[in-house]
Amino acid sequence: MKVTVVGAGAVGATCADNIARSAVCQELVLLDIKEGLAEGKAQDMMQTAALLGFDTRITGSTNDYAKTAGSEVVVVTSGIPRKPGMTREELIGTNAGIVKGVCENVLKHSPNAIVIIVSNPMDTMTQLALQSTGLPKHRIIGMGGTLDSSRFKYQLSQHLGCSPSDLNAIVIGGHGDTTMIPLIRHATWNSIPVTRFLDSDRQKQVVADTMVGGATLTKLIGTSAWYAPGAAAAALVSSILRDEKKLFTCCVHLDGEYGQKDICLGVPVTIGRKGWEKILDIDLNEEEKELFAKSAEAVRSMNDVLKTL
Ligand code: 2OP
Repeated sequence: MKVTVVGAGAVGATCADNIARSAVCQELVLLDIKEGLAEGKAQDMMQTAALLGFDTRITGSTNDYAKTAGSEVVVVTSGIPRKPGMTREELIGTNAGIVKGVCENVLKHSPNAIVIIVSNPMDTMTQLALQSTGLPKHRIIGMGGTLDSSRFKYQLSQHLGCSPSDLNAIVIGGHGDTTMIPLIRHATWNSIPVTRFLDSDRQKQVVADTMVGGATLTKLIGTSAWYAPGAAAAALVSSILRDEKKLFTCCVHLDGEYGQKDICLGVPVTIGRKGWEKILDIDLNEEEKELFAKSAEAVRSMNDVLKTL
């Protein structure tokens, strides 16, 4: 099993680190355009192998895509991250060119790879990757909702005083501060609805804090997150390579599901050896349906920017 992570910045390196620790592949290639960055970080990670007890061989490469040949999964993290006060949407012009070029290059050497898109704005970059590569839809997966759902569980755990891993909670829709939809009505604490424990004001607070989960820490650090985005992408890699068929929210191409067509948007899907395999239909109420339609509208108008580039 071989995995490539494109982009050795904080998100890409954290993703690679998590993949190596979970021992899901024998070979891991970290690639970056910046001379020496991927090689250096790969060496640093390999120097943890004896301490952490993993056998994955991590190698770094400065833009030599031949080294990535035969990868089963490719994670694309390339592009510029957002700075405080920036929206993910403002990155579109710069990142579209980068993501398109990366996808072309990786597929030349790994034509059967499943591609996970992390770069922002993630919904639009997923749409772009699907359109520009012409790959079957099941092989293009946008990571955003996996991250947002983990942030949602964190916020809920803070209010409930419970373990985040005892929670079932998902965020659907776009991966934007105003387009994501934390589905609090469906969230459970080991099968008990969380709405039983949180009054309406606290529910609203959890939802609002989840939606700015990335922006809040970006303001504190001065650049966007990497631990949770890296871990989220690595969890998807693991579910693919081990054929776990775990349920994640991912940005995938909709063909009538949730009332939307020809758009990539976050919905609950099973992730396995074939990529995203099955979309689960949640029984949304009128308010949730309306939020989903609005989210789709916002992502569509962002996707329209691609036509002007
Ligand atoms: C985030 O939400 C970088 O989009 C990523 O932190």
